[in-house]
Amino acid sequence: MKIVVLKQEDIKSVFSMKDAVEADKDAFLLYSLGKSNVPLRVNLNVPECEGQSLYMPGYAADAKALGVKIVSVYPKNIEKGLNSVPATMVLVNCETGEVCSLLDGTYLTRVRTGAASGAATDVLARKDSKVFALFGTGGQAESQLEAVLTVRPVKLVKVFDISAERAEDFAKRMTAEFGETFGVKIVAAKSSAEAIEDADIITCVTTTKNPVFDGKLVKKGCHINGVGSYTPEMNEIDEYTITHADKVYVDTRNGALNESGDLIIPIQKGTFSADKVTGELGEVIAGKIQGRVNDQEITVFKTTGSAVQDIVTAQRIYENALKKGIGSVIEF
Ligand SMILES: NC(=O)c1ccc[n+]([C@@H]2O[C@H](COP(=O)([O-])OP(=O)(O)OC[C@H]3O[C@@H](n4cnc5c(N)ncnc54)[C@H](O)[C@@H]3O)[C@@H](O)[C@H]2O)c1
Repeated sequence: MKIVVLKQEDIKSVFSMKDAVEADKDAFLLYSLGKSNVPLRVNLNVPECEGQSLYMPGYAADAKALGVKIVSVYPKNIEKGLNSVPATMVLVNCETGEVCSLLDGTYLTRVRTGAASGAATDVLARKDSKVFALFGTGGQAESQLEAVLTVRPVKLVKVFDISAERAEDFAKRMTAEFGETFGVKIVAAKSSAEAIEDADIITCVTTTKNPVFDGKLVKKGCHINGVGSYTPEMNEIDEYTITHADKVYVDTRNGALNESGDLIIPIQKGTFSADKVTGELGEVIAGKIQGRVNDQEITVFKTTGSAVQDIVTAQRIYENALKKGIGSVIEF
C-alpha cells in the first residue's frame, strides 16, 4: 500500500483557487442531486484531556471521492505550543478501500471554505462587482479573499475586524500577496458601515455572536457570503438582511438550518422560516432553481461546510499530485 503525504506547500503547488472553486461547485452539485453519502459528523469527547475529536466522513461515487477528515479541538494545546485545532484528511481509494493519501486538513479546510464563497459569488454575484467588504481577518480570511478575487473583477477591498491592528496588518500582507496579481487595492476600514458602503460583495468570516453589519445599509444588488456562524447562538448576518434579502441560499439545508444562528435565530423569532430558504447552491448549479435574475436583487449564501467539499477537493488535489509527482510516499 502506498500513501501520498501532501503538506500545505505540496497542495499549493498543484492546486489553484480556481481549481478549488470548480471542485466545490461539483461537490455542491453532487450533494444537491443526492449523489453523495455524507453521514452525520461523529463527535468524540476526550474529557481527560479537555478535548474533542470530530470525524467527518463522506463518499461521492461520481467524483471517486471517499474519506474522512479528522478535526480535533484541544484548547490546551496552545500552552504546549501546538495547534489547538489540528486537522488531517484521510483519503481512501474507493476501488480498493486502501488509504491512498494524507493531506494537511487545516489548509484543505481553508481552501475548500474559501472556495465555497468563491463558488457562490461566481454563481450569484453581479458580474460587474467591483467593491468587496471582508469581515474577519483570522485563519480563514486569506482564502476567502483570494476566492472572491478569483471570480470577480474586484478593484477595492475593504477589510474590517474588531481588532483594528489585525485589520491593518492583514490589509498590508494581502496587498503584498494579491495587490499586483489581481490589480486590487486592499485597505482596512475604520467601521463596519465604512466597510459595506458601496460594497457589491460582502463576506463574513468571524467568530462573532453578534451581527457584524447593519443590513439596512446594504446596497441593492449586493451578494453576501456568511461563513462564520456554525452554532445556534452565533449570529453574524443580521435578521434584517435575512428577512429582507431577495434570495437566501445555503450550501446544505441540513447544515445551515440546524447549525447556524443566522437562520435559526430569525426562525425562532418567527420572522423567517425554513421554507423561505430559496434553495441550495447545488440546485442553482444543476439548473433546478433560479439564481439572481436582475442587478437589484440582494442575495445571501450561508455555508456551514460539508464533508462533501473535503472529499471532492482532496481527491482532485491527490489526482493532480500524482500526475505531477508531488508529495512524499510512505510504503508499507
Ligand atoms: N463554513 C465553514 O465551512 C467554515 C469552515 C471553517 C471555519 N469556519 C468558521 O469561520 C469563522 C472564522 O474562522 P477563523 O479560523 O478565521 O477564526 P479566527 O479566530 O482565526 O479569526 C476570527 C476573526 O474574526 C474577528 N472578529 C470577531 N468578531 C468580529 C466582529 N464582530 N467584526 C469583525 N471581526 C470580528 C476576530 O477579531 C478575528 O480576527 C469561525 O467561526 C470558524 O468556525 C467556517
